[in-house]
Amino acid sequence: MNNFPILKRQVYGNKLIYLDNAATTQKPEIVLQAMDNYYRDYNANVHRGIHLLAEEATVAYEKVREQVAKFINAESEEIIFTKSTTESLNLLAYSLTQNLKKNDEIILTVMEHHSNLVPWQQLAKQRGLVIKYVPIKTNGELKLDTFNKLLTKKTKIVSLTHLSNVLGTINPIKEIAKKVHSFGATLVVDAAQSVPFMQIDVKELNCDYLAFSGHKMYGPTGVGVLYGKKTLLEKLPPFLYGGDMIEKVTLKETTFNTVPYKFEAGTPNIAEVIGLGAAIKFLQEENINTIKSHEEELTKYALKELNKINSLTVYGPQKRGPLISFTIKNVHPHDITALLDKDGIASRAGHLCAMPLLQELNVDGVIRVSFGVYNTKEEIDFFIKSLNKAIKVCNGN
Ligand SMILES: Cc1ncc(COP(=O)(O)O)c(C=O)c1O
Repeated sequence: MNNFPILKRQVYGNKLIYLDNAATTQKPEIVLQAMDNYYRDYNANVHRGIHLLAEEATVAYEKVREQVAKFINAESEEIIFTKSTTESLNLLAYSLTQNLKKNDEIILTVMEHHSNLVPWQQLAKQRGLVIKYVPIKTNGELKLDTFNKLLTKKTKIVSLTHLSNVLGTINPIKEIAKKVHSFGATLVVDAAQSVPFMQIDVKELNCDYLAFSGHKMYGPTGVGVLYGKKTLLEKLPPFLYGGDMIEKVTLKETTFNTVPYKFEAGTPNIAEVIGLGAAIKFLQEENINTIKSHEEELTKYALKELNKINSLTVYGPQKRGPLISFTIKNVHPHDITALLDKDGIASRAGHLCAMPLLQELNVDGVIRVSFGVYNTKEEIDFFIKSLNKAIKVCNGN
């Protein structure tokens, strides 16, 4: 794919093979240009200025809100721009727990990324709430029968990942939403890994809130999205206070702006939001269903090749998103990743920000390869060759 300038670079004299897409994706020319154009041609603050540049910046910024809304089948007012998935989830953990009572319960799963675990854990400590965790089966899928038992009238919030960044598991959100709502609880979905991979329709999923990051979907870092049902956002207290999120301020009192502005205090990351708009255009032009099929094919192929290596254990189910975590018997994950790097292959090793899950899997670290729109079967062949070579080196052969 030639619209990603970075893919032309060399790493230690080799062609770059970028297999760390679950951490962050590379950016196409269209995204780089959109951000550059903003700074060169119409850099101004949004929502405030009465001059042409400010008007152009505001129009561009608000147009992306409409684009994001259409992309996930939401309404514009239901889209809040944040810094990242992490910030979106912190916002929810802080604001959703404000009106909960001591001993109210939150259900998470053991496969959560730290960003969907630590905020709830810390707020639960401050507010005397109880957290319960849905366990996983040996194949890396959620134990839904246990989940059904954990759900009670005490459950107020259920928050879980749509697509696990370690196991690749795709959780059945629609089915979970039905159960959660039958108990009158609120459903939060961490869609950081699913939005770049599959068509998301929030109305069909019927989740109450959904969070994702621009940088994992070919957009820039520094911009995230929080979707929330309008009726719920209207009742939700704000997280950050300051400029732009207010209606009226006196020395004694403040009233808040309408949604979504109530949740966007201060100058937002304007260039990054504009870059996100270009990333969505890119995803739409490439077609998200075509991207999904391509990445599924690569994942299936890589799984088949990895399973030929005796000393290797793959984690997670057969049917999965575009990522594979594995370990090699008696070899430290970092040693493998460092050797792959010398061949120009970017992969990831460690706890992948999911320490509790790795404790469940009984490992300290894994190696992860994750695929994007620009990866090819030839790259996987090269990766497998390089991996076999690395295993030999690590085993002293
Ligand atoms: C499943 C999942 N949730 C949340 C995050 C956090 O995303 P960010 O670092 O962009 O806030 C990640 C990042 O790897 C992730 O994979």
